[in-house]
Amino acid sequence: MKHLLKLEDWSSEEIIATLDLADKLKYETKNGIEHKILKGKTLGMIFEKASTRTRVSFEVGMTQLGGYPLFLSSNDLQIGRGEPVQDTARVLSRFIDGIMIRTFAQSEVEALAEYGSIPIINGLTDYCHPCQVLADLQTIREFKGKLEGLKMCFIGDGNNMMNSLIVGALRTGMSISVACPEGYDPPQNIIEFGKSFGDKFEICRKPADAAKNADVLVTDVWASMGQEEEQKIRAKAFDGYQINDSLLEVANEGCMVLHCLPAHRGEEITANVFEAHADEIFEEAENRLHAQKAVLVKCFTE
Ligand code: CP
Ligand code: NVA
Repeated sequence: MKHLLKLEDWSSEEIIATLDLADKLKYETKNGIEHKILKGKTLGMIFEKASTRTRVSFEVGMTQLGGYPLFLSSNDLQIGRGEPVQDTARVLSRFIDGIMIRTFAQSEVEALAEYGSIPIINGLTDYCHPCQVLADLQTIREFKGKLEGLKMCFIGDGNNMMNSLIVGALRTGMSISVACPEGYDPPQNIIEFGKSFGDKFEICRKPADAAKNADVLVTDVWASMGQEEEQKIRAKAFDGYQINDSLLEVANEGCMVLHCLPAHRGEEITANVFEAHADEIFEEAENRLHAQKAVLVKCFTE
């Protein structure tokens, strides 16, 4: 068994093998070939934040793999009333075969893994979003035919998405430039991770500097889940940190645009760019299903 607590924990080889498996499962699903690899297994899915894609992709994915997905809202669990995660981990380990959790603190996911004895999958924390980034990498490879040597650019907040994209891009041979306003940089450990790849990592203040010669432009909301009260301050801080037509002009010809969704048109991305790149963005959303199935197979069976 293995965990997916954060992308840093997975080697380049493990990430590429997961993308290869995701492609194979996608092909089989599209061609009506069943793969009941997790027959009889139960996945508990704990949600302490809202979700459309993560919940549905894991629920459908687990079902397609022959397993049983169990939706556990923190509103209904004792965890929501303060039962320690350490105890929840030890109890659930005796009932089910794996846990996917979406929560606030990364430490909660790490504690589940430490105290439980079943695979733990991070379905988003304030720190990272590894499952989404695996789907993003799958999508880029699908459209561009490779990852190695491409340049990714992320515009916006130094948040869970930026953190996992920096790790995912660099581990798969891409370079990455990020543009964020002062005060919204990614955490120091992620900056150090990026710097260990030399000039393949760049942190800029101006979006146009970061987007120069990019093959893939990515953005995310200015205020993440849990930051709703900061919406106004953030709207000011992020003014100009937008993927729009003029930003695409400095990028490479045929530059892709990705967004993990939900998107706020007119804020981090214009409606125009969003619709022009809808094929890429919704393939990215679909790939959550295939990538999450690959993660489930890897975590449950290796
Ligand atoms: N991108 C993503 O994780 O979507 P949800 O919040 O809908 O799960
Ligand atoms: N950064 C966003 C991603 C949503 C999928 C958030 O955490 O709300």
